[in-house]
Amino acid sequence: MKFFLDTASLDEIQQAMSFGILDGVTTNPTLAAKEKKPFKQLILEICDALKGGIANAEVVSTDTEGMLREAREVVSWHPNIVAKIPMTPDGVRALSILSGEGVRVNITLVFSAPQALIVAKAGAYFVSPFLGRLDDISQDGLVLLREIMEIYRAYDFKTQVLAASLRHPLHVVEAAKMGAHIGTMPFKVFEQLFKHPLTDRGLETFLKDWEKARETLGDISGPAVSRKGAR
Ligand code: E4P
Repeated sequence: MKFFLDTASLDEIQQAMSFGILDGVTTNPTLAAKEKKPFKQLILEICDALKGGIANAEVVSTDTEGMLREAREVVSWHPNIVAKIPMTPDGVRALSILSGEGVRVNITLVFSAPQALIVAKAGAYFVSPFLGRLDDISQDGLVLLREIMEIYRAYDFKTQVLAASLRHPLHVVEAAKMGAHIGTMPFKVFEQLFKHPLTDRGLETFLKDWEKARETLGDISGPAVSRKGAR
């Protein structure tokens, strides 16, 4: 499973990059607006920080012509940019044309299996079902993800499933179990994936025990102690 960060914050992207497990970023207009800088500059800085990872840049036009213009523009900025287009009839028209031109498109705001089926047929590179926003209205987002995975497998669609709007580690785990190609998550969820209270408690005990015996144990990186048979 590829990990994408759902953010436009360079600070968060750089922190996540330090672990060597980040594959890309999904921005959206709301996230971009928080950064208070020109969109092109922001996306290019993100591409730089990602060192080869994928950056998703969303169009804001709502008519096919405008979407085509903006999608072609954003993908011209850097080879690692995928154009993000909303799941509307105009968006699907734009998708069909762009996929025919070889432009990689992520169809966003997907909330149903029929929508996912349509965008796979039209050649989307990524499909983004929003799990958390379905949960917010008392529908199980994971049920939608399961349906999409089943349909895509049945027809061997090449569209990659990008599980989006992930709100907690269980979303990530369940999406991974289903074989979703990508999970995009806020930095907070990314951080939560690392944590377990038993790891913290275990480490605390190990360090306390080491400290008690420090005089005998010495320093790991200290000068070598010469003794018979030591290597
Ligand atoms: C994905 O591309 C979206 O930007 C994102 O996952 C939306 O998540 P939210 O519902 O937490 O805003």
